Amino acid sequence: MENIAIVNDIDNNIVNSILFISSKSEYISLSENNLKQYIKDEYHKVIIIKNNNEIKGFLIYFLLAPEIDIIFIAVYPNNKGYGSKLLSYLFDDAKANNVNSIKLDLYENNITAKNFYIKNGFKKIAVRKKYYNDKFDALIMEKSI
Ligand SMILES: CC(C)(COP(=O)(O)OP(=O)(O)OC[C@H]1O[C@@H](n2cnc3c(N)ncnc32)[C@H](O)[C@@H]1OP(=O)(O)O)[C@@H](O)C(=O)NCCC(=O)NCCS
Repeated sequence: MENIAIVNDIDNNIVNSILFISSKSEYISLSENNLKQYIKDEYHKVIIIKNNNEIKGFLIYFLLAPEIDIIFIAVYPNNKGYGSKLLSYLFDDAKANNVNSIKLDLYENNITAKNFYIKNGFKKIAVRKKYYNDKFDALIMEKSI
């Protein structure tokens, strides 16, 4: 059975699972310290999706109405709907908080994530040249709520 939970406290099992999932992606660099700061910070939300009590994915976002910025999303394994379910929770939270715009940036060559966001209603609004490490372009995407 699947369920989504908000992470409000630092729990080593949860922290390690999130770091394990993020380590599977070349596009995410999330340190333990950063993750703990996100968990503690009142404007950042960390949510996880579990299947039969096993953590399969996480989403970190910054909510300051009327905007949300997606910081990181990752799942393992992928293509099983976990990412879309995390976004669906996010869309409900956006509506509940009178958010009218959700934005994110991603590596332009991260085609899987780009397709995933397009499928979930995001549109490309800009490209930032050499945004990552002064080397890789970033795609800025937005979904209006
Ligand atoms: C991006 C990501 C979160 C999507 O989550 P997911 O659970 O795999 O996605 P869902 O199953 O909900 O949605 C499936 C859609 O995602 C995309 N997708 C997911 N896996 C894919 C793959 N291996 N190849 C191509 N497209 C893929 C497709 O658009 C797919 O739709 P389709 O089946 O109609 O083609 C996941 O692939 C991931 O963790 N990627 C690594 C981390 C990352 O790059 N995060 C984004 C930057 S922070």
